[in-house]
Amino acid sequence: MNQPVMEGLRLNVPAYVKHQRLIAWVAEIAALTEAHEVYWCDGSQAEYDRLCEQLVAAGTFKRLNPVKRPNSFLACSDPSDVARVEDRTYICSAKKEDAGPTNNWMDPAEMRALLQTGQKDGTPALFKGSMKGRTLYVVPFSMGPIGSPIAHIGVELSDSPYVAVNMRIMTRMGRAVLDVLGADGTFVPCVHTVGAPLEAGQADVKWPCNKTKYIVHYPETREIWSYGSGYGGNALLGKKCFALRIASTMGRDQGWLAEHMLILGVTSPEGKKYHFAAAFPSACGKTNFSMLIPPKAFDGWKVTTIGDDIAWIKPHADGRLYAINPEAGYFGVAPGTNTLTNYNCMASLHSNVIFTNVALTDDGDVWWESMSDTPPAHLIDWQGNDWTPEIAKQTGAKAAHPNARFTVSAVNNPALDADWDNPAGVPIDAFIFGGRRSTTVPLVTEARDWVEGVYMAATMGSETTAAAAGQQGVVRRDPFAMLPFMGYNMADYFQHWLDLGKKLADSGATLPKIYCVNWFRKGADGKFVWPGYGENMRVLKWMLDRIENKGHGEEHVFGVTPSYADINWSGLDFSQEQFNTATAIDKAAWTTELGLHKELFQQLAYHLPAELPATMSKIEQRLAAE
Ligand code: OXD
Ligand code: MN
Repeated sequence: MNQPVMEGLRLNVPAYVKHQRLIAWVAEIAALTEAHEVYWCDGSQAEYDRLCEQLVAAGTFKRLNPVKRPNSFLACSDPSDVARVEDRTYICSAKKEDAGPTNNWMDPAEMRALLQTGQKDGTPALFKGSMKGRTLYVVPFSMGPIGSPIAHIGVELSDSPYVAVNMRIMTRMGRAVLDVLGADGTFVPCVHTVGAPLEAGQADVKWPCNKTKYIVHYPETREIWSYGSGYGGNALLGKKCFALRIASTMGRDQGWLAEHMLILGVTSPEGKKYHFAAAFPSACGKTNFSMLIPPKAFDGWKVTTIGDDIAWIKPHADGRLYAINPEAGYFGVAPGTNTLTNYNCMASLHSNVIFTNVALTDDGDVWWESMSDTPPAHLIDWQGNDWTPEIAKQTGAKAAHPNARFTVSAVNNPALDADWDNPAGVPIDAFIFGGRRSTTVPLVTEARDWVEGVYMAATMGSETTAAAAGQQGVVRRDPFAMLPFMGYNMADYFQHWLDLGKKLADSGATLPKIYCVNWFRKGADGKFVWPGYGENMRVLKWMLDRIENKGHGEEHVFGVTPSYADINWSGLDFSQEQFNTATAIDKAAWTTELGLHKELFQQLAYHLPAELPATMSKIEQRLAAE
């Protein structure tokens, strides 16, 4: 081992680390945070097992029953640290306009004073001494197959062993990444602290965190600094912070796309394969859709998962867009997942899983709402309290937090696509955008062209879910399902999509088709009309027919939709009337909807591409003519 010593702190640099700039940066952060020691993660199974044992000893993890859930653990977070914190998330670009009106912004110098250097009035920087008494884990990770031309590398420095083990599942992590990085490769520096320094002799808590939280991105220098939270996207910095916020700015500058999209493959009985990339807001069923099992009537059809949350998409020399899943695992929402809603996911969770904020059964297994029809007679809920169905009835207490998660490796997924780890990626045939809307938006609509597709994605609305802190069930505009994840000005991002489409079209390429879907429309009885889950295959099949130029569709106000006869209903009792409820365009609702689109365009007026209001005018004219 190289042993540079920083003011008495050994950096413990393994001999295989050749990157002097990386070593110097680790030294700098170790000195700033006053970490007790430095540990370089090699990504091995032995290391993972050791860290998990350490987390068990610290009380952060509980080992689950090894017969029921081999090598699996339950972590329960501090009740104040359960979701992404959008109001604490900042894009600190040099110019405020570059962050745009949908992001929190602070001047980078001001933010650096707050986090790193200390403020003029003498207030010390938040990161100063923030890792006292803790180990600084150096976590090198590749977003995407190691060495893929679509992949990029990051290094996270974190004082949380929970982060280190989750990152091993969620990314390609460890020594192999440093080998690719070599002596002078480029990496995105990510610094994370739970913000809970330990004084000598101070006992730790099970889930250290800080009430003050900052999730900060510097797009120009491509840096991430996260303070105060140990949870999910706030702490596993490869995911939303790097793979979406920072990567979106890389994509803007380099001509590619970083998207909040699952990627799935569909193979026909004849063996023809297609690939879809689909954007839905958080907790709207991306994981379920990516692992869909086609209904019986689609015997011989196969759906396979490339990714469940994020897609990096680059234009290829053949004129097509190729996508990789930058992640290597799934950090999925547990409540609502069961063998009917997502059989493949449940099968993925048999072993080697980290559960966060689900309930513990008396026999050492896990449970969450709707995992089974009949809940167990007794549980310990995610906050450590006794829970029974009776208590739940009286108090409304949830056994699992609504944003409870599982972290599991992609290789556990029985529906994993053979190309999920292919460095070349997969060619995209169509994009799908979908929000959670109980009214207004039809089951499925095809954009007439790329611009109309960008309009559909840009104006998408969705009812908020528990994935983010704040009120739930409120419709908000969530353009491209990227509202919480955009690293730059949203209007510039729309322009980037339009420019990319134009560039591909000018090169003679056939552009992917663009669809807008809504699985969540409700009937007069307040129940979902569309059965969803595996039945979504029927909608996918109509899209495939359209891609093959053999599917019928009808033009209307907002794109092209199938009529009842255009969908294969075999094996599903779904009447023309139900179809009408799922697809009808209500003139009054659309007039209100267009008013909301207009409001969005007013909010995003700076740099808003002219094509978008122009598309809106066309929709208004069609609506007026109805
Ligand atoms: C996620 C999210 O964790 O979108 O994927 O919140
Ligand atoms: Mn997501």
